[in-house]
Amino acid sequence: MLRLANKIALVTGATSGIGLATAHRFVEEGAKVVITGTDAGRLEAASKELGDVLAIRADAGDVADQRRIADTIRDTFGRLDVLFVNAGVADFRPLDGWDEAGFDRSMAVNVKGPLFLVQALLPILSNPASIILNGSVNAHLGKPGSIVYAATKAALISLARTLSGELIGRGIRANVVSPGPVTTPLYGKLGFGDSDLAGFKDYLIGVLPIGRFGEAKEIADAIVYFASDESRFTVGSELVVDGGMINI
Ligand SMILES: NC(=O)c1ccc[n+]([C@@H]2O[C@H](COP(=O)([O-])OP(=O)(O)OC[C@H]3O[C@@H](n4cnc5c(N)ncnc54)[C@H](OP(=O)(O)O)[C@@H]3O)[C@@H](O)[C@H]2O)c1
Repeated sequence: MLRLANKIALVTGATSGIGLATAHRFVEEGAKVVITGTDAGRLEAASKELGDVLAIRADAGDVADQRRIADTIRDTFGRLDVLFVNAGVADFRPLDGWDEAGFDRSMAVNVKGPLFLVQALLPILSNPASIILNGSVNAHLGKPGSIVYAATKAALISLARTLSGELIGRGIRANVVSPGPVTTPLYGKLGFGDSDLAGFKDYLIGVLPIGRFGEAKEIADAIVYFASDESRFTVGSELVVDGGMINI
């Protein structure tokens, strides 16, 4: 039996990395999958790779786009069973490097957009439905440079609890998966030069008890658990998937 048979699942930011790997796992497990991203070319490439998916071009930080996503899913499928909120900005800067526009952008994509996406989807969320938010180990660490990113990811842990508190009566659960360092194109977007990036990755491998980065599929496998009914008693919770980074 496929673990997500007959489920309609939305993955935001699914053109690369963890989102794309999760969309692959969802398709493998029998779900009908909807993906989003900001770039038409990358969306087309991901759709070709995934097969029969619905692709919606949308900016995760734009509230009107979140409403358009919900309208499109309502008009196409009439309901949604699984929401994986994955699209996120990882903008790392020291405290004195921040300006209001950068702060607002991180908050918009990582926190505001997700909240208004869930609000827009409420009329079509099934009973049962599962919401999974993509957090980060940074929510639990005080790493220099992560001040805004870490705050946005900490907000998602809170959001999973309060969403669950408000919505559990309707059969809707929200949980967080918090990955440690995972090999994805994200690291190329941090603004480091090549040698600084290599040094940063070496540092991270050094502090990872498991001695390596995670693979996107290893996070996607955890997300399949949350998406499926196997996790029906797991509510408002967080699963840290980090090679032992924060506990050892
Ligand atoms: N990689 C890690 O080590 C790691 C660790 C912990 C948590 N995470 C979290 O995992 C999530 C995915 O990261 P990743 O590592 O898989 O990065 P990635 O490979 O860079 O993928 C990011 C995805 O999000 C999409 N995206 C970015 N901004 C968007 C926006 N404003 N609206 C809609 N889509 C947007 C991108 O598509 P387009 O560019 O086409 O829009 C892309 O599909 C993020 O929330 C990140 O914080 C990653």
